[in-house]
Amino acid sequence: MSHAAHSVSASTVIKPARLLSHSATLWFVVAAAGHFAFLVYIVGFYWLLIAGGGAAGLADTHLPGGFVDGDALGNAAVIAHLLLAAIVIGGGPLQLVPAVRERFPAFHRWLGRSYVTAAVVSSIAGLYMIWTRGTAGGLANAVGITLDGILILVFAAIAVRYAIARNIVRHRRWAMRLFMVASGVWFFRIGLMGWVVLTGGAGIDFETFTGPFLTFWGFGQYLLPLAVLELYFRAQQSTDGRLKVATSVVLLVCTLAMGIGIFAATAGMWLPRIT
Ligand code: HEM
Repeated sequence: MSHAAHSVSASTVIKPARLLSHSATLWFVVAAAGHFAFLVYIVGFYWLLIAGGGAAGLADTHLPGGFVDGDALGNAAVIAHLLLAAIVIGGGPLQLVPAVRERFPAFHRWLGRSYVTAAVVSSIAGLYMIWTRGTAGGLANAVGITLDGILILVFAAIAVRYAIARNIVRHRRWAMRLFMVASGVWFFRIGLMGWVVLTGGAGIDFETFTGPFLTFWGFGQYLLPLAVLELYFRAQQSTDGRLKVATSVVLLVCTLAMGIGIFAATAGMWLPRIT
């Protein structure tokens, strides 16, 4: 009797390790869906404009420094940045799907090279754009995205080094860190739009696009995802069930917040611009 009761409870209670694994999968599925929405916007808006009118196609858009007459180098940087953004945003989630890596290793390597090249070139172009043309918002935002660009270059180099050395454990970790920083601009947009929906835009001066929230999120856009990722790595390795459960709760809260932000960014920003 007691034996039967024991086996029933053991099979019905979700084990902390499974809870953590399911929470991480749910986080990833929602993040991948949100990347897809951003990808549709990048291709449907920027690629079509560039295909239709080259650099001049970007004049009179919401981008503050999209096109500057006579600045060929700057215009080329913007075009490269926007074309390659699609590879970064579309390719990142695909690289993280275990089934794709296991079944199609050659594709994983080919896309990995394309992803890293796109992220590196796009970051260098972005660094050039930000310090020659500026961006919406204040100095804090410029410094925040500059640090993000530097982290992309550093993490890409480390992830590639471990891939070449066939150190898969370390490669996987650095590739996931690279994903978080290379998707920083995605986190920025969904975080901003989610915050506006939830708080009505507290801490944001919409005239100047500055304010405490934007200063915080200029850095938080990649530091927060990186911190949650480190927590996840620790919980995965730990034998402490409570840490796994607590981390699962953190992941589920992040997933809910991401879902709200993705909906707000897609409905309020991306879809209206391409329809
Ligand atoms: C590699 C990952 C990155 C991706 C996928 C990416 C993607 C994009 C996209 C899609 C836009 C168009 C804006 C929109 O319509 O929402 C954009 C604009 C811009 N990006 Fe990036 N970006 C990345 C990294 C960076 C970095 C590292 C910097 C700077 C250091 C940067 C600087 C800029 C600037 C200056 C603009 C012009 C818009 C503005 O004035 O705010 N980007 N980026």
